[in-house]
Amino acid sequence: MNNEYILVESSNSIFGQVDLAGAKNAVLVIMASLILTSGKSILKNVPNSEDVWQMMNLLKQLGAHVNFDFENGKLEVDTSTINKFVVSPEIMKKMRASILVMGPLLARFSKAEVALPGGCILGARPIDFHLKLFKEMGVQISLSGEFLSAHVTKWQAKRLVLEYPSVGATENALMAALAIPGTTQIINAAIEPEVLDLIEILKKMGAQINILPPATIEIKHAAFLNPVEHEIMPDRLEAGSLLLAAAVAGGEIIVEKAPAHHMDVFLMKLKEMGHDVQVLDNVIKFKATKNPQAVSFRTMPHPGFPTDLQAPMLVAQTLAEGQSIIQETVFENRMLHVLELKKMGADISLDGTTAIINGVKQLNAADVNATDIRSSCALVLAGLAAKGQTKISGVHHLRRGYQEFDKKLSKLGAKISIKCY
Ligand code: UD1
Repeated sequence: MNNEYILVESSNSIFGQVDLAGAKNAVLVIMASLILTSGKSILKNVPNSEDVWQMMNLLKQLGAHVNFDFENGKLEVDTSTINKFVVSPEIMKKMRASILVMGPLLARFSKAEVALPGGCILGARPIDFHLKLFKEMGVQISLSGEFLSAHVTKWQAKRLVLEYPSVGATENALMAALAIPGTTQIINAAIEPEVLDLIEILKKMGAQINILPPATIEIKHAAFLNPVEHEIMPDRLEAGSLLLAAAVAGGEIIVEKAPAHHMDVFLMKLKEMGHDVQVLDNVIKFKATKNPQAVSFRTMPHPGFPTDLQAPMLVAQTLAEGQSIIQETVFENRMLHVLELKKMGADISLDGTTAIINGVKQLNAADVNATDIRSSCALVLAGLAAKGQTKISGVHHLRRGYQEFDKKLSKLGAKISIKCY
């Protein structure tokens, strides 16, 4: 609903224990991967987020039967009834991850008809790498207006080279490659943890996939893939967002079942700021320092600093002592939160995709607008530290990427609620 806003008040400190939802970036591609099978699969730890509902709509449009017990995070998908390979523009426009059905549809039907995808506005976000790899595999693609029509003439097993380790292009190529007789390799592949979760479920389906150092994925032809049961990995980006909420508001939190082994560079930077971060098995214990020091970093493909945590980490720098330089190298337009943070009194200058931040003593509440999933999180965090009541519009962005982030923060003691104008 467009008349909603997030109301955040200065929250002195937050305390308590918190569980993580399943990873948004893993569940969407994993739902798409079920198109490769015929039968009933069960996914567990599925987050109740808007993008998941959109992907459910997409699968239903293709003919799948879907049942989501969202209170228990259990999603049943029966793909035996899938009989279409066309996705309407209305669904494609809702999220960028919808493009991830192209690979599985090509593998299943040797055809796919989809509109160009929508999603967060983080820059041009082209899909040229996806299309280039499909073409190399033997797919003919034509673009009419905003509609892509693709069909396979003859599959060709190849060494496919990515000029940049795109997460989506790796996932799409990986799923399509399962239909190709012989062995396909993707060189310079993305090895984000969510790609590894996809590989894990594909292996459970019966696929033979190997990761060869440093970043090659080798895929063998799979004539048939079985339906499966799979638990989605916990969301490392939600974990990072919650830790940063505590860093900004102050306090102590314990994040249960956290994929800390996928968060090394991020956790290192939190420690460099002076925060106390203890990792015991899969539990992260965090105690905020009262005198955070500014740190600099640049976003990188995994295992570097994740671009999805840049915006919330930038908020933490606005209140740290000293100067921070943050370079966004993954997306060319992922700094839209900077303008909003300046309205709240942050001292930030922007040079292209580099932000130079001088820490201030205090942020002040303002009416601000979230333009993408991670900027919505960043503005919530800024609101926790700001003096007064911050009103954030663009609530749907928070709902697209997080499962009840507001309620989780509330339980930890933050003053946050979603209201209507
Ligand atoms: C995924 C994540 C997103 C995350 C990003 C990087 C999902 C649903 N989303 O997005 O949260 O921020 O990985 O970790 O998993 N690019 C091209 N041509 C292409 C594809 C990408 O130029 O064909 C560019 C993009 O514009 C961007 C960079 O490559 O600048 C990285 O994009 P990519 O890794 O593909 O991100 P997504 O898969 O869209």
